[in-house]
Amino acid sequence: MSHSINNSLSDCKCMNKGEKILLTRSTGAPIGDKFNSITVGPRGPILLQDTVFIDEMAHFDRERIPERVVHAKGGGASGYFECTHDITKYTKAIPFSKIGKKTDVIVRFSTVSPELGSADTVRNPRGFAVKFYTEHGNWDLVGNNTPIFFIRDPIFFPSFIHSQKRNPKTFLRDPNMMWDFQSLRPETSHQFAFLFADRGIPDGFRHMHGFGSHTFKLVNENDEPVYCKFIFQTNQGIKNLTVENALLLSGKNPDYAIMDLFNAIETRNFPSWTFCIQVMTYEQAKNCSFNPFDVTKVWPHKDFPLIEVGQMVLNKNPMNYFMEIEQLAFCPSNFIPGIEASPDRMLQGRLFSYRDTQRHRLGANFDLIPVNKPRCPFRNYEVDGPMRVDDNNANMPNYYPNSYGGPEHNPKYLERREPSTGDIYRFDNADEDNHSQVTIFYTKVLDNEAKLRLAKNIAESLGQCKEVIRARAVNNFSKVHQQLSRDILMYMEQDLGVKTNLTCHL
Ligand code: HEM
Repeated sequence: MSHSINNSLSDCKCMNKGEKILLTRSTGAPIGDKFNSITVGPRGPILLQDTVFIDEMAHFDRERIPERVVHAKGGGASGYFECTHDITKYTKAIPFSKIGKKTDVIVRFSTVSPELGSADTVRNPRGFAVKFYTEHGNWDLVGNNTPIFFIRDPIFFPSFIHSQKRNPKTFLRDPNMMWDFQSLRPETSHQFAFLFADRGIPDGFRHMHGFGSHTFKLVNENDEPVYCKFIFQTNQGIKNLTVENALLLSGKNPDYAIMDLFNAIETRNFPSWTFCIQVMTYEQAKNCSFNPFDVTKVWPHKDFPLIEVGQMVLNKNPMNYFMEIEQLAFCPSNFIPGIEASPDRMLQGRLFSYRDTQRHRLGANFDLIPVNKPRCPFRNYEVDGPMRVDDNNANMPNYYPNSYGGPEHNPKYLERREPSTGDIYRFDNADEDNHSQVTIFYTKVLDNEAKLRLAKNIAESLGQCKEVIRARAVNNFSKVHQQLSRDILMYMEQDLGVKTNLTCHL
């Protein structure tokens, strides 16, 4: 486990050999002295006329942009996706149109609730966001390293995130807030079980799978749809950190995951993932024993086997972190023909949120930042706005329709027509089977040692909470398995000396 990073600053090259690069103001004017500000005498005050100093300082004062409201800390790299298997019977999406076809990608991995300066090795889901630069525009698959999520209705997202962030009074992270929300909304049990098990602290970004998590829709050339899930399986193998090692690294090397990814690529040890889909027909969706549009559920592999599609390889580090990673903007609504949204409520909620936050975080013209710009020709009727630095559609008409040959829509690219009926209402789905898949995870996926580690990890966090919250959470976990709740109680008593009266305030 190396703690040093390859020095990646490059030597600057001047066009004319032997000459030094001339330092200028941002206006291009040459600078004569970058060591000394202009003062009245050697010991006097600085003059307002020192625009070399003032301009640079004013720019420095504006260097920070808002950090992402979630997923603030992360690292990323570029590479390609190569299609290795034919799935054209399911989708006309252009990256999958031909075996051997390569599509450029950029990927950003992240933690979720901690801030930009936080440690990489905390127990938290990891973001796994991929932008495919296709001939039909950018397709973003904005997933996590978990196949499921905490909630199934986006109406809870701001509250859920607040409960994971800092207490508004103490400004401390607060297990009471986290477990209060968790225990009041038992649909969170599946993701919490995943998170407090071994995969809750992956060993860097290279040793984890990525999941689109939601149910999406694929549409083929004949306009025939299926529902699907997207999965990236790590070719490096799954590797997790022990709690002890993760704690140690948070102090010794808080940027462990970013460094690991950067160094691997710098030494040409390119990480790669096998890209797969799962497919469910509309008929299967109608008869499915669980709601296939509920992101707190997985699709069992035995019923919906993995179908291999291709390989994703990351082989290029960013030249400049801010330009290529901090300014990266992913959005689940960035679809291309052949891939569409399903009725998954959470996905529907996300379709709005990302481009909205990016207008705030990066400005109205964020799509024109080089790393976000489509690599195919693009023309539309969006003009002006702050920092519009391309040709602003030049002298093209800025309204539609027009008689001047401006860009035309083409019905060939219409979304699939979907029939719909139903009452418009706030349907309550709180009790849509919150435990049976978690029970399968506990009994079938975890071995005995892993079961105990899960109970111990939960106990250590939950044991810091008020009695009423502890009791409610343990009671919920007893619906996953009696043994799990017994072990949590045992560890809370043994390790923390905390006794919990399960009959209290459930
Ligand atoms: C209603 C639910 C959700 C809402 C409203 C939401 C909202 C957001 C917002 C506002 C950002 C910051 C984006 C930016 O500043 O560029 C973000 C980032 C992110 N979200 Fe979500 N999110 C939701 C659920 C999810 C789910 C279910 C997943 C994974 C399956 C996910 C994965 C990510 C990832 C990976 C990022 C970081 C993208 C990057 O690297 O720039 N989110 N989310």
